[in-house]
Amino acid sequence: MGFKGELLVCAILECETMEEMLSSMEKAKEEGADLVELCINSMSFSHISEVEQLLKQRTLPAIVSFRTFCRGDSKKTCLQVLQLALQLNVEFVEIELEVASNVVMTELMNKRSNSKLIVSSYIQGGHLSKEKLGNLVTCLQCTGADAIKLVVDVVYITDVAPVFHMLTHCQIPLIARAVGDRGLISQLLGPKYGAFLVSGSLGGNSIPGLPPLASIKQVYKLEYMDVDTKVFGVISNPVGHSKGPLLHNPAFRHTRYNGIYVPLLVDNVKEFFRVYSCNDFAGFSVGIPHKEAAVECCDEVHPLAKSIGAVNTIVRRPTDGKLVGYNTDCEACISAIEDALRERRITNGQASHASPVAGKLFVLVGAGGAARAMAFGAKSRGARIVIFNRNFGKN
Ligand SMILES: NC(=O)c1ccc[n+]([C@@H]2O[C@H](COP(=O)([O-])OP(=O)(O)OC[C@H]3O[C@@H](n4cnc5c(N)ncnc54)[C@H](OP(=O)(O)O)[C@@H]3O)[C@@H](O)[C@H]2O)c1
Repeated sequence: MGFKGELLVCAILECETMEEMLSSMEKAKEEGADLVELCINSMSFSHISEVEQLLKQRTLPAIVSFRTFCRGDSKKTCLQVLQLALQLNVEFVEIELEVASNVVMTELMNKRSNSKLIVSSYIQGGHLSKEKLGNLVTCLQCTGADAIKLVVDVVYITDVAPVFHMLTHCQIPLIARAVGDRGLISQLLGPKYGAFLVSGSLGGNSIPGLPPLASIKQVYKLEYMDVDTKVFGVISNPVGHSKGPLLHNPAFRHTRYNGIYVPLLVDNVKEFFRVYSCNDFAGFSVGIPHKEAAVECCDEVHPLAKSIGAVNTIVRRPTDGKLVGYNTDCEACISAIEDALRERRITNGQASHASPVAGKLFVLVGAGGAARAMAFGAKSRGARIVIFNRNFGKN
């Protein structure tokens, strides 16, 4: 198993016992993983022979890792585990930069035959500049490893941009992951920037920032992604509930369009557009609570959206990269309500051409971006409107 060719999908396994590791490995295989990362530091074992048994019984190629930071015991146990993995020809053996001194690296390099050595760094603490990350990547490369790995704790979705930059420019194979819900796009868009491996979580065991394995294979189909793939997504907070990816990704494939639609957990919509400003970020749905603030981010706003004061759709015009905002909530909601009322009228033998909303009392709960669109639509059809909102000033 190497670094070239098809995208590798990896399941990260953190289990306490050998039995759990083995059964999770089976599950990962069923859910489409190509390999597993066995986080040996998560396992409690009284003797190294238990790890040996696990590695010998593995049913998928593996990365063996052991994070010393996670437990009091030590570099010594870590090196014992990694050396064992090399002896058993485990496909990938991962060592943290803090443990990978020149002496240790020479020793491990001498011991390996078919395994590939990965040197990794786990970075806590949020915002990292391209420069800082670049320096770290240089340090990792200087160890002489076959591949390097960066796991970065991000505070905002915009902190993932330097990770994409590293993926594009790294001289040797790089595994990169941004941790937490705001880091999810590091996996979903990684292959566009050259990632050879993405990680996912097992069904029923969600890990923030990791897409479920099944969605990597069935919804996003990341194996088809390339540098030309156009990025679309829903900008929202929260965003996990959105059904957008289930709807748009199959539609893209059906029409043979090279695009992907991803959830974008955004805190500051203006900052998001400042950072992800290239033409490849081609279009956006806008959800709670950004519909109103997003108007200010657009270079042009459709007259209807301007009147409403909220946009739910933003298209980046390919010819000049300008952001153009629209509001489709208004027509979609009101016409759906009209259709339902018309159907009822037809059933009751009361068909008419006038809007069935005209003259009705339209009750809105909430006064945010979505409510503005509906109030505007209902009023334009001649409805009377009552708004319930906890914040009176907004009405
Ligand atoms: N299905 C669809 O196609 C679709 C489309 C658009 C929106 N939506 C849904 O519609 C809802 C509103 O979206 P939006 O974009 O308009 O959001 P928004 O701009 O953030 O507005 C949210 C509204 O809900 C009120 N609110 C929030 N938390 C509340 C609480 N705990 N108690 C009472 N009121 C509360 C807010 O009151 P304050 O003004 O006092 O802050 C505000 O009026 C969301 O649930 C969104 O997912 C669905």
